[in-house]
Amino acid sequence: MLIDTHAHINDERLLPLAADIHAGLPEKGMESLVVVGYDRPSSETAAALAAEYPRYYASVGIHPHDADSATKEDYEYFERVSAFDKVVAIGEIGLDYYYDLSDREAQKRVFAEQIELGHALKKPMIFHVRDAYGDALKILKDNASKLEYGGVMHCYGGSGEMMREFIKLGLHIAFGGAVTFKNFSKADVVKAVPRGRLLLETDCPYMTPVPYRGKTNLPEYILLVRDKIQEWRKDISVEETTYKNAKELFNI
Ligand code: NI
Repeated sequence: MLIDTHAHINDERLLPLAADIHAGLPEKGMESLVVVGYDRPSSETAAALAAEYPRYYASVGIHPHDADSATKEDYEYFERVSAFDKVVAIGEIGLDYYYDLSDREAQKRVFAEQIELGHALKKPMIFHVRDAYGDALKILKDNASKLEYGGVMHCYGGSGEMMREFIKLGLHIAFGGAVTFKNFSKADVVKAVPRGRLLLETDCPYMTPVPYRGKTNLPEYILLVRDKIQEWRKDISVEETTYKNAKELFNI
């Protein structure tokens, strides 16, 4: 069985397909998926999807792109909705210096505030970090005591050395469709992740794997991610290992 740990069924491209995708999961060998919020409205949609569909779980949070507009009311909403047991994580939260859509100081502040929130709510966290691994590592280290419920570096694209730093902090490392790209250069990093910390994801509708690039990504394409990683990980069953890891991290 497979679990997609990062799917945006709350995206307007996938939302109309929510019922069909849900109904099709078992025949694709998928048990469930985590619908990940990135701002207040998408978090509300994620929670609503989790309430409606048994195989959908939700994560709520403010993406670094929207850090500028994060409010106290957003945090209060996350706190309220986290009482619902199918809200399994806080995220995606983090830093994105590639797009720089929010001021960097605001990104850092909102990242730290949500780590604090996630810890207070006893939830694991989903981290989005792009071109900002150094600063993200510093913030995570400064808040190491608040990571006791775990977390995942989603769509990991950093170095092996940096990966080992995140592992030391108790975090998981997730890979998605990028592993199938011709220019993917991190096979050695995928090979080096400790088996107990490896996760699969799609980040659908983004990051569509080969051979569907240019089309909308779907949860079922996680099979392509699994197969690619299995080529590199002769030491484990990627499906069994990542399934168990996802169940444990998200308590699902
Ligand atoms: Ni995402």
